[in-house]
Amino acid sequence: MEEKTIKLDLGHTTLKIDEAAHQEEVTAIDQSMKDKTGRGSDFLGWLDYPLNYDKKEHELLKKTADYIRSNYDVLVVAGIGGSYLGARAAIDALKGLFHEEGPEIVYLGQTLDPDYVHGALNHIKNKKFAVNVISKSGTTTETSVAFRLLREMAEAKYGKEGASKAIVATTDAHSGALLKLSQEEGYVRFVLPGDIGGRYSVQTPVGLFPIAVAGIDPTLILEGSAKAREDLSDPTLSKNDAYRYALARHLLYKAGNASELLVTYKPQLVQLGEWWKQLFGESEGKEGKSLFPTSCTFTTDLHSLGQFIQEGSKTFFETIIDIKNPTIDVEIPYDEANLDGLNFLANKKMSFVQEKAYEGTLEAHSKKAGRENIVLHMDKLGAFELGYLFYFFERACAMSAYLNGVNPFDQPGVEVYKKNMFHLLGKPGY
Ligand code: PA5
Repeated sequence: MEEKTIKLDLGHTTLKIDEAAHQEEVTAIDQSMKDKTGRGSDFLGWLDYPLNYDKKEHELLKKTADYIRSNYDVLVVAGIGGSYLGARAAIDALKGLFHEEGPEIVYLGQTLDPDYVHGALNHIKNKKFAVNVISKSGTTTETSVAFRLLREMAEAKYGKEGASKAIVATTDAHSGALLKLSQEEGYVRFVLPGDIGGRYSVQTPVGLFPIAVAGIDPTLILEGSAKAREDLSDPTLSKNDAYRYALARHLLYKAGNASELLVTYKPQLVQLGEWWKQLFGESEGKEGKSLFPTSCTFTTDLHSLGQFIQEGSKTFFETIIDIKNPTIDVEIPYDEANLDGLNFLANKKMSFVQEKAYEGTLEAHSKKAGRENIVLHMDKLGAFELGYLFYFFERACAMSAYLNGVNPFDQPGVEVYKKNMFHLLGKPGY
């Protein structure tokens, strides 16, 4: 039998799921997604995107990414929320935090902090930089302000024509200020389809263009997502780990948990946690019900939040992404003097030490602390597997939100701060 890319393990929870009792509801929700009849069904384009994406655009994306890789030292990704988190998650996860090959990736447009913005602009000003501005609406304040600054800098550095070669825009196909601007300036343009929301867009050019510039094969991400789509198209709970995960977290919520803590063991997956938090937080955080999604990196955070997780309030459960094999391993050397007393680890691999930390922690948290631990086992994490993981969570999130009776694809609450801010800033119409 073919090995699963992600194996859901509920053996460290107290859940005894009666699948038959939930199957009818899960099947009905799945069918409403496939038929596009549920709440928010105008935003289900991501469901089949890994199969029916625009192949011609994908070729242009790869060609343009190669051009940027060969001609520039830095790519500035200007976007916020769903328009940058996926790319950042993938680039960190797959290139690591110290990669030296290919252009440096700098993020701007995700903050209004003057110190950060000044620091980033100062960092790139004497470097050969290109820009990928990403905004579906084309009117997001953070992104638009950053892009105005970047455009001015690029035009001053390369001239108008040179700047138009250094700037790539990813936006809606039919409307918005960024579309109009990029048409007028002649930027290469990629499309975020109208039926895909930002937090479900990592497999579109929103995520794939920066990913490709970073030197990751974007086709592999799509292939991984396409395989997940195939594996997860049958709603039968015993066969569908994404739906079983959705149901498990839903039942844990109903059992009184207020929060879900996503745990990884890799510092290069911190941004994956950020992406995951947006996906679940923005999709489910509505109508006064839903789990609060948060994240941790072990063993780092075992030395900060570890005490709380072991003995603090029982208001949350953990979901652990356990990746068995590292891309590259490190061996701990033997030391004759053994002054640090570490020779019991001599010639052992770091992956072995990490595995024991994982096993010991799982036991401590699930058995000793009595905390519920869901585990997602993966053999390794390459571009294919990450594409699979993105889709797995997207599908699980949609199911989970529907189980909770909310629309997974809108975000009315995000507008409230924007309206107040626009009013205070004196934006016309507010
Ligand atoms: O997921 C979402 O819809 C949001 O996070 C948006 O992606 C974010 O607000 C940025 O919007 P835009 O792409 O329109 O600039």
